[in-house]
Amino acid sequence: MSSESTGRSTWKSRTGFILAAIGSAVGLGNIWRFSYLAYENGGGAFLIPYIVALLTAGIPLLILEFGIGHERIGSAPLAFRKIGRRWEWLGWWPLLFTMFGIVLYYSVVIAWCVDFMFYSFNLSWGDDPDKFFFESFLNLSSSPTEIGVIQTPILISLFIVWLVSWGIIVRGVSRGVELANRVFMPLLLLLTLVLVFWSVNLEGAMVGISAYLKPDFTKLGDPDVWISAYGQIFFTLSLGFGIMIAYASYMPYNSNMTGSAVITALANCGFSLLSGFGVFAILGFMSVTQNKPLEEVVTQSIGLAFVAYPKAISLIGNAGPLFGVLFFLSLTVAGVSSAISIVEAFVSGAEDKFGINRKKLATLLCVLGFAGSIIFTTNGGLFWLDIVDHFINNYGLVMAGLLECIVVGWFFRLDIIRKHLNKVSKMQLGVWWNWVIKLCLPLFLTVILLNQLVREFSVAYGGYSWASLIGIGWSWIGITFLVSFIFAVQPWKTDNHLAKGRGEEL
Ligand code: TRP
Repeated sequence: MSSESTGRSTWKSRTGFILAAIGSAVGLGNIWRFSYLAYENGGGAFLIPYIVALLTAGIPLLILEFGIGHERIGSAPLAFRKIGRRWEWLGWWPLLFTMFGIVLYYSVVIAWCVDFMFYSFNLSWGDDPDKFFFESFLNLSSSPTEIGVIQTPILISLFIVWLVSWGIIVRGVSRGVELANRVFMPLLLLLTLVLVFWSVNLEGAMVGISAYLKPDFTKLGDPDVWISAYGQIFFTLSLGFGIMIAYASYMPYNSNMTGSAVITALANCGFSLLSGFGVFAILGFMSVTQNKPLEEVVTQSIGLAFVAYPKAISLIGNAGPLFGVLFFLSLTVAGVSSAISIVEAFVSGAEDKFGINRKKLATLLCVLGFAGSIIFTTNGGLFWLDIVDHFINNYGLVMAGLLECIVVGWFFRLDIIRKHLNKVSKMQLGVWWNWVIKLCLPLFLTVILLNQLVREFSVAYGGYSWASLIGIGWSWIGITFLVSFIFAVQPWKTDNHLAKGRGEEL
């Protein structure tokens, strides 16, 4: 069967596929979001819910997404169409809110990293990185409705970020995405190892590391800690984005998919744990050199990379600029390899359905992506980022994951996917996996969603006005949801949807 010809682009090798999947998973979220969450939610004790979430939700769901893409042989829209005619929209929705939501602000954060890489050379932030970041660099307004003007340095780097992404995607699956990740992933690992090694040797590093690893078990009783852990696992493994489905569809028949899912998940989370050492070592160094308690040097997540790190870079002395360049370069590399994954997944969906040439699609999407990102480079940009991020992460991703489990578990024969995975993989999934997908995951995800909803309506998120929350956050979710139906009812221009899945052919 390995000679089957589906006419689909394919990865050159399994290693290439795994590296690309890791490239999508490892992103900005692994470096600062994880460290900050760990710190805030009980240090070492956070690792317990994090690992539980990885085992109970992350790995089973990643196996499911790999299984759907590989068995149905399609990007998310095609795969869901082949699961059932009425489910095609569920393939489009995550692609829409990620491509026209997450990646728009995510690429702006990468652009900040590019700017800060240059600022590192002469420590442009001076003695007050906080003021520099919020006032000079972002020139932050007082509310999301005050958009103000575009910040030119951000716009220029944003253009470069989209240009590089475009340059990778137009080259196709194996010569573009695979090749880029073959360079980016080893480079990222090297940069991270250098930074971690450097950081743990700084004075005071141990103070930070012991805060990172010292468990505060009282936090385990707090449902918020568990919710943060599950939310982080979704974001970090690119689950519910529709990306992993497309990536898996490019694998030839005989490929150990279950094993690849486990490797991808473990590598991604291992990377987070590793970079956590670096981040906490830096915090310890700052607390000791400035003679301040550790709690005072940690700010909120964005502040960690763009305020606390610059401060630390200035304190390092002569080698500070080199440290800064390496740090912001590693964030940029991690970010770009995630950003290209959604463009690729969208290109794949549109190519499957409309048969449009991928070069044209890639160009169109990158132009739209760049244009759409511009709102986040304005003076109100950070507020927009915060709101869109909150709504898409807490509702979009979780809802997409929940619906995925219900549709594949209850409206389709999940066993087709499980048997197919078992046929091609070394690691065998028992019937227990079906029940994790059909019952456990929907249950967890519903609890998370309801808890979040109750909170949403009791306090206005982030203290924003209800009008901004509805006008920006809820409408973003609502509009992408509606557009997914518009895409789904368009007639198919190819006959890809008529082909069978791999599990049914046999
Ligand atoms: N997993 C990435 C992270 O932890 C996030 C991510 C994955 C992403 N795919 C993406 C962001 C596509 C933007 C676009 O940072």
